[in-house]
Amino acid sequence: MKKYRLGIVGATGLVGREFIKVIEEYKLDLYLKLFASKKSEGKKLIFNNEEIEVKSLNANSFDDLDFVLFSAGSKISRIYAPLAAKNSIVIDNSSYFRMNPSCALIVPEINFEDYKKFSKIIANPNCSTIQCVMVLKPLDDEFDLKKVVYSTYQSVSGGGQKLVSDFSRCRNGLNPNILPYDLTKNLIPEIDEPSIVNYTKEEIKMIQETRKILNKPDLLVSSTCVRVPIIRTHAVTLYCEFKKEVDIDKVYEILSNTIGIKVLDDLDNHIYPLGEKALGNDLVYVGRIRKTFGNKNGLLLYVVSDNLRKGASSNAVQILKRIIEDKEKNK
Ligand SMILES: NC(=O)c1ccc[n+]([C@@H]2O[C@H](COP(=O)([O-])OP(=O)(O)OC[C@H]3O[C@@H](n4cnc5c(N)ncnc54)[C@H](OP(=O)(O)O)[C@@H]3O)[C@@H](O)[C@H]2O)c1
Repeated sequence: MKKYRLGIVGATGLVGREFIKVIEEYKLDLYLKLFASKKSEGKKLIFNNEEIEVKSLNANSFDDLDFVLFSAGSKISRIYAPLAAKNSIVIDNSSYFRMNPSCALIVPEINFEDYKKFSKIIANPNCSTIQCVMVLKPLDDEFDLKKVVYSTYQSVSGGGQKLVSDFSRCRNGLNPNILPYDLTKNLIPEIDEPSIVNYTKEEIKMIQETRKILNKPDLLVSSTCVRVPIIRTHAVTLYCEFKKEVDIDKVYEILSNTIGIKVLDDLDNHIYPLGEKALGNDLVYVGRIRKTFGNKNGLLLYVVSDNLRKGASSNAVQILKRIIEDKEKNK
């Protein structure tokens, strides 16, 4: 098998470091080139017990690469991803290309084949969106989803290294520099910048990306995104309405048999999805599964997953792995 060459842009960040771990865990045999900002030039990161020196990103960084994973924010992806895509397949973690009609937005368990139909820039969805659509897709296939209302509980690492440091300031009794309020004293219902009609950008991302991934442009979706004072793993409650009546036994059966999902739901014994369970693995945990009062087509769910794994790095590496397998098959 060919040893492919992979570049990671943003290798020193929270997602970038997790990329390296996941690639090791998945035993992908790749040459890695690591890039970050000028300030990280010369830093060394470990991959398969070997040190790799981080290089400062420039326009010639991609000359000899087969694939490039981007996780350095939208501004960097906007400029450099099209350059990388001239010779390489790009998987981008930022939000910049997600709603571009010529880019695929992929959760491999749902719509992997889309990557063949679009440009060489593949977008990795928003972290909270991924864990929700993983659960919604098999239920949509059975009951035909009409409406979903999300309420999120998103951890600090979702905002990158700078937000984690800012939260540390709060925990040390200092005023935050980035967070609008002290997150040790408040849950904060504001993630990313304000957007249209009193929604935040994060909320709009969840709405638009859900429709695109599920290929349901008319799906009714609303979202409220809240930052909570834990470091890692996001939780989301989902209120769903389907066109067909919900059979709760069938819901358990479907979710229990879906790859990538783990049902934890035994309230009497205090069993439900928790961050500690989700931390460091690729599963999406679902529990607190209930029908709604007064609506036979309604369903409530509580979903937890690791935002830095399935919500970011693992989803991207799973896309990469499947493309490599496809290439090898078609040789
Ligand atoms: N965190 C999550 O849960 C999550 C989930 C899904 C998607 N994402 C997306 O993934 C991306 C990265 O997130 P993160 O949480 O890993 O952020 P982060 O911890 O802040 O890391 C940012 C990375 O970008 C690099 N970078 C910054 N400016 C650069 C420049 N001018 N040239 C090259 N590299 C530069 C940084 O390098 P230095 O160390 O040298 O500054 C660092 O490696 C963002 O687009 C984010 O929206 C994050």
